Parts: sequence; C-alpha cells; structure tokens
Amino acid sequence: MTIPFIIAIDGPAASGKGTLSRRLAEAFELPHLDTGLTYRAVAHALLESGQPLNDEDTAVEAAKAIDLGALDPAVLAVHTIGEAASKVAVMSRVRSTLVEQQRKFANSGRGAVLDGRDIGTVVCPNAQVKLYVTASPEVRAERRWKEVQERGILKGMDASFETILSDIRLRDERDMGRADSPLKPAEDAHLLDTSKMDIETAFQTALSIVKSSKPE
Ligand code: DC
Repeated sequence: MTIPFIIAIDGPAASGKGTLSRRLAEAFELPHLDTGLTYRAVAHALLESGQPLNDEDTAVEAAKAIDLGALDPAVLAVHTIGEAASKVAVMSRVRSTLVEQQRKFANSGRGAVLDGRDIGTVVCPNAQVKLYVTASPEVRAERRWKEVQERGILKGMDASFETILSDIRLRDERDMGRADSPLKPAEDAHLLDTSKMDIETAFQTALSIVKSSKPE
C-alpha cells in the first residue's frame, strides 16, 4: 500500500494559507480540508442553538456531529463565527474530537492538503511536507481589509483597518497562547513569509518546496 502524500499547511489568520492550500490541492489533484471550518462549524452550531461557547460537554457533542462533507465556507466565513471558533478551539476534548476526523480525512486516500494551526505539529506530524505560512500583522490586516471591501464578509462589524489589525493581533494571541496545540511552526516546517510576496510568487515558492519533497 502506498503511503498517503500529506501536505500540512499552518499559519496565522489571513496569512494566505487558505489560498495556497486550495491551489496546491488543485496542482497535485488532492482533496483539501480547511480545518478552521471544522472549529467554525462547532461554533456555528452552538451559536445557532443558543448554547454557551464554553461548556465543553455540549461543544464535544456538537463536534461529534460535524459532517466534513457539508462544511459551507460561505456560511462559516462571517466574523462572529471566527471569533467564537477561536474560543471553542481552546477546549482539549473539542480539539481531540475534531483532530480524529481530520486525521481520517488525511489518511483515507492517496493523500490530502490540510490547513490550520496544528496540522504539522499535532494532526499530521508525519506529513511529507509542512509549510508554515506567515506575514506581518500589518500586511495580513491590509489583505483582510481589501477582501472585506470586495466581498463584505465582516457583516455587522466595524471594518476599519485599525479594527481589523487589532482583531488580528487578538486572534494571534489566542491561537498562539493557548495551552493545547498552540499555533507554532513544526520543527521540520518550511517557513514561508509572504509579507513581500504577491499570491502568485507565494504559490510558485510553495509549489517548488512541495515538488522537491514529493516522491516520484
Ligand atoms: O483559520 P480560521 O480563521 O478559519 O480558524 C478559526 C479558528 O479556529 C482559529 O481562531 C483557531 C481555530 N483553529 C484551530 O485552533 N486549529 C486549527 N487547525 C484550525 C483552526
């Protein structure tokens, strides 16, 4: 049996890892899972049913009910769900429930691209390629701000550049500061700082890293 070819992509909010992951998945014809959507789906289920975000038993039940095939990025992209997701994501049993499903996804075929915060460190520590995609908070805020202008995804939020920047810093603090699976590069991750790159340059750089790690 051939070993699945797994590409693990981690990085902070708005680093560009989502776009890179989708494009790499396309290039290598592999399925892609944005694991942030799984945390968002749990948060969404709790918000919808008026349940608290910090009750672990309830959140674990919601996590068990998540269907990876039915995650709707359009519904889950909204700002309030992202905020709630970063709170839900601090609970260890919620994480282990979702991680189990993410690992199954990664290992069920000839490979996969997964992106998130802990793919290279926790979910797929044996991934053949690990990328840690980052950019300065200012650059990420600028990109998010432009995206908001174009798509209006921060419904109900004050979307000034300053608000977005402070929100990104807050999210970084929460993602990097939590006790369980904090965001950090795996020791064997390739660091890709996209602060001074456009998306095409970032993609070409990521592509050549992955190609050099891929067995024929
Ligand atoms: O990437 P995103 O904005 O969709 O992620 C939403 C939240 O989910 C993020 O603040 C942290 C959490 N998350 C996580 O803890 N681990 C992952 N692998 C992916 C996301």
